[in-house]
Amino acid sequence: MARISRQQLITFEELDDATDLTPAELTLWQAARAATAHAYAPYSGFHVGAALLLADGTIFKGTNQENAAYPSGLCAERTALFGLAANLPGHAPIVGMAVAARPAAGDFGAALPCGACRQVMLEYEARQGQPIPLLLPSRAGTIMRFESLAALMPFHFSADDLPPA
Ligand code: THU
Repeated sequence: MARISRQQLITFEELDDATDLTPAELTLWQAARAATAHAYAPYSGFHVGAALLLADGTIFKGTNQENAAYPSGLCAERTALFGLAANLPGHAPIVGMAVAARPAAGDFGAALPCGACRQVMLEYEARQGQPIPLLLPSRAGTIMRFESLAALMPFHFSADDLPPA
């Protein structure tokens, strides 16, 4: 029996800072940062904002919403995507996404979506049938630019893995 070693590459661009963003990206980046002001994070003190840019120029934002029953809370990425789908059905395609995070007292740092958010993000991208470029602040203080959310989670579970309903 053959045993083959394989590798899976994740491709992204790394930008030094926000001065390297396009004007549209900068607006989205700043929207994600501004959204952190509306996080409800009394338990972690970690304020997260996510911003979605639609093809018609609309920017839709989400923030993390925590709860005294901890697992009942939700991340910013999912409040943004679920909020968009619930409030603007038939919306223009999502053409950009950015995430930002900062502690209660302190400056913006890395914002790396959790696995559950990645799973949801990929489904929304698949659902609209066109890639969603993504900007994330890295741990190194740089900006990671992905052409598609799909890069975030190889081998994710999708509708293709389910039997026909
Ligand atoms: N959180 C997000 O909103 N997005 C992420 O990508 C990671 C974590 C939230 C969940 C929780 O409210 C707090 O950050 C600490 O985990």
